[in-house]
Amino acid sequence: MQQKIKTPLKFLPQWKALEAHHMKIGRTHLRDFFAADNGRGEEMTVEAAGIYFDYSKHRVKTETIKLLAGLADASGLRASIEAMFTGKRINVTEGRAALHIALRAPKGSSVMMDGENVVPKVHEVLEKMEAFADRVRAGGWTGHTGKTIKNIVNIGIGGSDLGPVMAYEALRNYSQRGLTFRFVSNIDGTDFAEAVVDLDPAETLFIVASKTFTTQETMTNAGTARDWALARLKDKEAIAKHFVAVSTNAAKVSEFGIDTANMFGFWDWVGGRYSMFSAIGLSTMIAIGPENFRAMLDGAREMDEHYRTAPFEKNLPVLMGMLGVWYNNFFDAQSIAVLPYEQYLKRFPAYLQQLTMESNGKRVTLEGRPVDYQTGQVYWGEPGTNGQHSFYQLIHQGTKLIPCDFIAFSKPVHKLGRHHDLLMANVFAQASALAFGKTAEELKKEGVKDWLIPHKTFEGNRPSTTMLLDELTPAALGRLVALYEHCVFTQSAIWQVGPFDQWGVELGKALAGRIAPELEAKDEPKLAHDSSTNALIRRYRAAKG
Ligand code: F6P
Repeated sequence: MQQKIKTPLKFLPQWKALEAHHMKIGRTHLRDFFAADNGRGEEMTVEAAGIYFDYSKHRVKTETIKLLAGLADASGLRASIEAMFTGKRINVTEGRAALHIALRAPKGSSVMMDGENVVPKVHEVLEKMEAFADRVRAGGWTGHTGKTIKNIVNIGIGGSDLGPVMAYEALRNYSQRGLTFRFVSNIDGTDFAEAVVDLDPAETLFIVASKTFTTQETMTNAGTARDWALARLKDKEAIAKHFVAVSTNAAKVSEFGIDTANMFGFWDWVGGRYSMFSAIGLSTMIAIGPENFRAMLDGAREMDEHYRTAPFEKNLPVLMGMLGVWYNNFFDAQSIAVLPYEQYLKRFPAYLQQLTMESNGKRVTLEGRPVDYQTGQVYWGEPGTNGQHSFYQLIHQGTKLIPCDFIAFSKPVHKLGRHHDLLMANVFAQASALAFGKTAEELKKEGVKDWLIPHKTFEGNRPSTTMLLDELTPAALGRLVALYEHCVFTQSAIWQVGPFDQWGVELGKALAGRIAPELEAKDEPKLAHDSSTNALIRRYRAAKG
């Protein structure tokens, strides 16, 4: 659908005002911001949906936030949010709505899409998932030989893997420990081989999770899983007991041999990277139980309501999104580090990479005009404190500006001696050290030798957000995920790009489809690629013999 032409971002007076403002305050040090206002550390915070969000250690003034909110306003963010929540086809290049918020809408509520309330069908699937999850958890779902299912292997990739594996790892302490969970995504056979190396097929259930049910990696792994299971169970009938599917494509599911009675559906208005609260979360629900899964949905819904209703300057996803724009577009910062001080969130940065980078890694606007400004940032990170002993050096003293998202919890999942106090001491210390650094004068006073002073000086002025939550519960995870989802949407509205398609993944897929038969051909194939690809193919063919 052709889009209405918007005023180009850089022509907006609000953009120009921010440019002028950046010229004025861009070099001001956080030390000076804090010195000028004793209350800053408490004032520049927002508490909503269970998250205490401290943005005082950002290179902003109250006026900056006002100007950014003005830009968000001028970008039509309010109308865009409404369009998303009311089921408009905002994924314009695919002609689809992006209604992941409906996945966490309460029973009895209404979210309309093309004149239909989609909430009843969301709950119908949830109830089917619940009945299945309860049965597996209670040992009532037996395999072909009558043995109880003890192992769940989720086969999927991208959004059909990263959300489930992240949520499983995050909520492992809520999981039924008698069940084993594995996740297979990579087409590299090692992934499958290692995932099943110690499993008995008679006790194993595969969840084949794929929105399209055509993805090369998932279908190859699913085929291998079927061969692996049948090699030992020796009866095609076994598939019904050992394979279930999560998909929008019933025809393909049944073509694969899975009974569609064992299929859990979702809809084209759920994007892959926005699908962890749909049936794609089946493995999560089996792990943590339906009640905890519902609590996770409730947490996400809390954030949805906050996003839809709070004024921009007090709105967490909007604030987060605008701060990203501030650094990306005015300070030329290329990346954002996500640093959870919670070991259970070890896969959260990887999950965010798809969410953020597949969404906003775009170079043309919705109207198809090339942008003349930076869009999506590179997201990366590791849990603290591990990262401190690895890449934090570069964040503290390197030449790049890397805004950080610190995520911490007041209560530990495991109360163990001094561990949690020490963990929290580290997160507070890092945010403070990044912001305020250490001056040459301070070092001199400590008696540091002159020649060492440049090496030991911390310039500071390195921005960060500190998010403090109570405890890592299913609800807290739901809130965090929805926070980042809506942050992505906020930025897409400002950058005028479409966050719900991913055409950039297609070219490589098509080329791989062309190259695979050339690698497998018995006779020397006629190659018509570039000279480098041709040479690599020849070399590989010769080496594999
Ligand atoms: O190739 C990218 C992608 O389309 C992602 O957007 C998606 O999450 C992933 O592949 C998996 O797709 P599917 O669930 O259809 O197998």
